[in-house]
Amino acid sequence: MNNVVYQKSIKPTSDATYSVDQVLTTSPDDGELLDVCYDWDKLPVPSSLKEFESRWSNRSHRLDFSGVWRFRDLLPFAPEEKIVTIGEGQTILQQSNSVGKYVGMKDASLYLQYEGLNPSGSFKDNGMTAAATHAHMVGAKIAACASTGNTSASLAIFASTTNLFRVVVFVGSGKIAFGKLAQALDYGAMTIQIEGDFDDALQRVREVCDAKGIYLCNSVNPFRLEGQKTIMYRVLEGLNWEVPDWIVVPGGNLGNSSAFGKAFIELKELGLIDKLPRLAIINASGANTLYQLYEEQGLRWNKGAFDQQKIDSFFSTMEAENRRANTLASAIEINRPVNLTKCLRALDACDGVVRQVTDQQILDAKAHIGAGGFGCEPASAASVAGAKLLRAEGMIAPSDRVVCVLTGHGLKDPTATVAYHSMTAEKIDDKLTTHQVTQAEFANAPIAVKNDLQAILDLLN
Ligand code: F0G
Repeated sequence: MNNVVYQKSIKPTSDATYSVDQVLTTSPDDGELLDVCYDWDKLPVPSSLKEFESRWSNRSHRLDFSGVWRFRDLLPFAPEEKIVTIGEGQTILQQSNSVGKYVGMKDASLYLQYEGLNPSGSFKDNGMTAAATHAHMVGAKIAACASTGNTSASLAIFASTTNLFRVVVFVGSGKIAFGKLAQALDYGAMTIQIEGDFDDALQRVREVCDAKGIYLCNSVNPFRLEGQKTIMYRVLEGLNWEVPDWIVVPGGNLGNSSAFGKAFIELKELGLIDKLPRLAIINASGANTLYQLYEEQGLRWNKGAFDQQKIDSFFSTMEAENRRANTLASAIEINRPVNLTKCLRALDACDGVVRQVTDQQILDAKAHIGAGGFGCEPASAASVAGAKLLRAEGMIAPSDRVVCVLTGHGLKDPTATVAYHSMTAEKIDDKLTTHQVTQAEFANAPIAVKNDLQAILDLLN
């Protein structure tokens, strides 16, 4: 297996390869991020994506049931008996005219990919099934992550459901939405709340994992991103294997966007698609490192020769000014995205753009997504707010086929949702206003009424 599947630095100039059995998060060769690579000529690959459809009729097979592993030929790093699955990836692509109208699209043009339907309620389960599989392959006994909440919920559910390893999760104190914290606690994960934010927690967990030989499940783990590629396979599946014009995704630690880029690059190389979609990554304006570096400072992949000095000087200024990420979309409240350089490759391959949206734009978009059917958490709504912005700029055309990825379930962060819907001119929510959310134009405010039949009937007239 080792000569057909291996790990390698993302730098095209680096030739050193590492076995799939090695637990690494950066290349020992050059310190860069790693890819899981395949020698496709020596692996069985379907001749068309349609071939995957035969697996739909085989739902009693645990791997065909999984929305990740039914595509296992496209992430063939694990022996089947080692694959750890909890039925992740049963998610849907839904066309939404009401959200499309809000974005400014023609009917039948806007689609929402609902990753909140995963077992732990976010897209993370796509990646965690792959990381858990690798952890199982290498015999890990303890796994850890830092998290803004969803990664911890996902890792915790995999550990509690499978009992294969113990879990330690690191979260920033006060930085995690209640729904997510509730999950980590309920699933029995050892939960360490450290003073600081996600960026601090990630730095610490990396040190702890190195010191203790603990298996790290953040998206610097290249195996996790292999699982996240399948979100795009399901999007294609939902479009009858046609490639959309745009994929719009929120950007936090930039694992998703990096994985999506890898997925499309590989599909094109394999001749399974004939073009790549354009990629739009949406930052919250209070956590906009990618936006600043890519759109304002012109940082590019540049065939792997990206300007490391530009990146270093950006972060040293950030450090000197003690700039911390600050957004109500707590899932993407991240200033030091670990997959930054891998994401540059995705932006390059998919002719990408990066935009930033305010918390006001995020919560307004979220209200429309909720009213249109499935709810999502604030970070997810950044995708729709970003699509609306790109449409207003004319970057997205009204008849383009646009897929917005809704990364997490609405129940993850009920506090933000209730605060928005309860906000009226008389009742201002402090947490919202400190994030410059000053109005709730699309609020569906609860109505207080006396416990009196006639008063209630009068209301309904
Ligand atoms: N949306 C949600 C709901 C998330 O939880 C995250 C990341 C993102 C978007 C950003 O995705 O990192 O791939 O760019 N949450 C991580 C966590 C960081 O710890 O749960 P990304």
